[in-house]
Amino acid sequence: MLQALGRRLLFSYLGVMVTIWGTATTIVYHFLSYNLYQKLDSEIITLANAAAHNLIAAPVDKKAINTKIPRILDNDDDGDLDIPWQDLHENHQGVEWFDTNARLLAKAGTTISRMSFTANFDISQHHKIRSITIPVYLHSLTGRKKKLQGYVRVSESTEELEEELDRVLWGFELGGLIVIILSGLGGWWLTRQSLQPIEQSIQQLKQFTADASHELRSPLTIIKTSVEVIMNYPDRIHPANLNKLEAISSASNQMTRLVEDLLLLARTDAVTSPKMIAWISIPLDELLEDLVEFLEPQAVSKEITLKSEISTEVFIKGEAIQLKRLFSNLLQNALHYTPKGGTVIVSLVKLERFVAIDVQDTGIGIAPEHIPLIFNRFWRADQARNQREGGLGLGLAIALAIARTHGGDITITSEIGVGSCFQVRLPLAS
Ligand SMILES: Nc1ncnc2c1ncn2[C@@H]1O[C@H](COP(=O)(O)OP(=O)(O)OP(=O)(O)O)[C@@H](O)[C@H]1O
Ligand SMILES: [Mg+2]
Repeated sequence: MLQALGRRLLFSYLGVMVTIWGTATTIVYHFLSYNLYQKLDSEIITLANAAAHNLIAAPVDKKAINTKIPRILDNDDDGDLDIPWQDLHENHQGVEWFDTNARLLAKAGTTISRMSFTANFDISQHHKIRSITIPVYLHSLTGRKKKLQGYVRVSESTEELEEELDRVLWGFELGGLIVIILSGLGGWWLTRQSLQPIEQSIQQLKQFTADASHELRSPLTIIKTSVEVIMNYPDRIHPANLNKLEAISSASNQMTRLVEDLLLLARTDAVTSPKMIAWISIPLDELLEDLVEFLEPQAVSKEITLKSEISTEVFIKGEAIQLKRLFSNLLQNALHYTPKGGTVIVSLVKLERFVAIDVQDTGIGIAPEHIPLIFNRFWRADQARNQREGGLGLGLAIALAIARTHGGDITITSEIGVGSCFQVRLPLAS
């Protein structure tokens, strides 16, 4: 139970760490990507603005839009900003000039967008090429009027930028892996530290139960035998005391059962790895048939049909007394919680490495919300309390503890008012 709790804590901790890391890196990545694209866009717009001067100068200077290389930089005193187009080759950029009718006038550079031209301010990206189109206006000297001169579209390859982003992503992934490993180790250490005191107190509690049960055994035996001796001579008992003695006898019997059950549970709790050396091969089919035969009178008295459907011989390794107790608890429950006229069937199926034993009844059933609780010690459904007094709520806890020490498990399917099926799975003797 504590191991499962530890695992749950560890996985929750890892989940939280991975979510925090994932969210933080996603935000950082998008922020970085946004900034890099903003920087690229501002570079492209600067270039586009510079190239726009050529378009403005074109009507007076036919050579203004000249893509030939080399072109002398800003030495022609025409007042415009000339672009070192030869640099475009290195920068993976390209410039296109369009007239007012969106007709291509000239282009320069290696990276030209294949996207169709849009005669408007436009930012687009296609196949790792980012393009920005700007309309170019000629302003009157007063600055009041402006006349459209054409358009400039500048394209730039985003390959370098994307490579940089890929490198960042790789860094985050590697960092994420390291974070998960370190969080896993840290989480494991933290859960161990936090569960240690709980484990210690559970251990102390178990030890206390075991010691108390053990200490209660001798006084209980004395009470039981004394009462039995007294009751062996009924003529010596005052008739008014007979009922009280019977009550003492019944209560001491119930207490003895409780103490025995608690001791058995304390013993199975203490066993971390069962002593398989002491185990012998047990014919499970015979053990079940004997039990059915033994419980037959109880079934008859309750007018319940008790049947066994076992056709194969099955051997499993274990302790016969404990296995008898396991199936006796399940069968007793089936008989206790099945009303008159019902049926209880024990069946056995041999699987490849396991044997599955079903104890099926047509009884009161168990509510779905109660199924996770029924193996808890001292837990009993209200309906079961009404049906049967004197139960302790330990039978199934014992059955499960025995099944687990034998390397098996118990599963339940049940429907209220229809019946229940307890399936025990145990490993076959190899
Ligand atoms: N076959 C069944 N049909 C319906 N309810 C069941 C069945 N078996 C178990 N239960 C429910 O599970 C509870 C726990 O069962 P468990 O055998 O541990 O205790 P108990 O039968 O009440 O007492 P005891 O310790 O004497 O066995 C029962 O009180 C009952 O509510
Ligand atoms: Mg029971």
